[in-house]
Amino acid sequence: MSQLRLEGKVAIITGAASGIGEAAARLFAENGALVIIADVQDELGHQVVVSIGPDRSCYVHCDVRDEKQVQGAVDLALEKYERLDVMFSNAGIGGPLNGIMELDMGALDNAMAINVRGVVATIKHAARAMVERKTRGSIICTASVSAVLGGSAPHAYTISKHALVGVVRSTAAELGKYGIKVNCISPFALATPMTCTGRDPIKMEEHYGSLSNLKGVVLKPRHVAQAALFLASDESPFVSGHNLVLDGGFSVVNNCFSFE
Ligand SMILES: NC(=O)c1ccc[n+]([C@@H]2O[C@H](COP(=O)([O-])OP(=O)(O)OC[C@H]3O[C@@H](n4cnc5c(N)ncnc54)[C@H](O)[C@@H]3O)[C@@H](O)[C@H]2O)c1
Repeated sequence: MSQLRLEGKVAIITGAASGIGEAAARLFAENGALVIIADVQDELGHQVVVSIGPDRSCYVHCDVRDEKQVQGAVDLALEKYERLDVMFSNAGIGGPLNGIMELDMGALDNAMAINVRGVVATIKHAARAMVERKTRGSIICTASVSAVLGGSAPHAYTISKHALVGVVRSTAAELGKYGIKVNCISPFALATPMTCTGRDPIKMEEHYGSLSNLKGVVLKPRHVAQAALFLASDESPFVSGHNLVLDGGFSVVNNCFSFE
């Protein structure tokens, strides 16, 4: 097997100007992929391209709420690199923090527009490009441990990430006949700009570590990128419709029994 696990492949990563998406852009490019960094933070996105190398990556402004911009990102992949193999639909926001009795419905709509509708638009246009060219591609979404549990995040976020698991299962069902894999990754909490704005990242990692089941590992964006690389590559040829929960066992254990 090639050391470069994505050699010859073209990937679009949404939300790649920062955090998990940025780490995935670097790891995918290190593994031979040509990467399109799609985000709304133009300056950061261009900086990521400079650091990866403009021969291996390019930036496109793409607000996933706007279907035309999503289509534009896919068109760019086809025009510039002549194919699309991987759509890592990773852009997301934390959404409003209020309790249900104070929930701002406009803020809920915005979280759903980015975290769910935006992901659906990326799958729609990636699938069209892959099916037209008979590419047996890989579509990956970033859900969250909050996709399988209540109470680990605010309402809008939890609701939107639960919905993503449905999006993945539903589209995997239709796209399987074309050989297109559709999966999501559900990470535990980690320190990124989304979770750390105005906070000390080291303190946030300590806090998440204190809640975590699996001790001795601090979850980093690169760990999530490694899971995405597995799903993007040919090492997961029969994995589709799957939610790869990356939480050190957090969502499946309950330490009510004491061994001491
Ligand atoms: N950090 C965590 O604890 C955590 C845990 C589980 C899942 N996630 C998910 O991981 C994904 C990446 O988040 P992150 O933690 O790297 O945060 P981040 O804020 O570092 O990255 C998110 C990126 O998405 C971009 N983005 C936001 N709205 C957008 C839009 N409308 N169109 C295009 N891009 C947009 C942002 O500009 C940013 O670059 C999100 O879907 C998030 O929900 C994060």
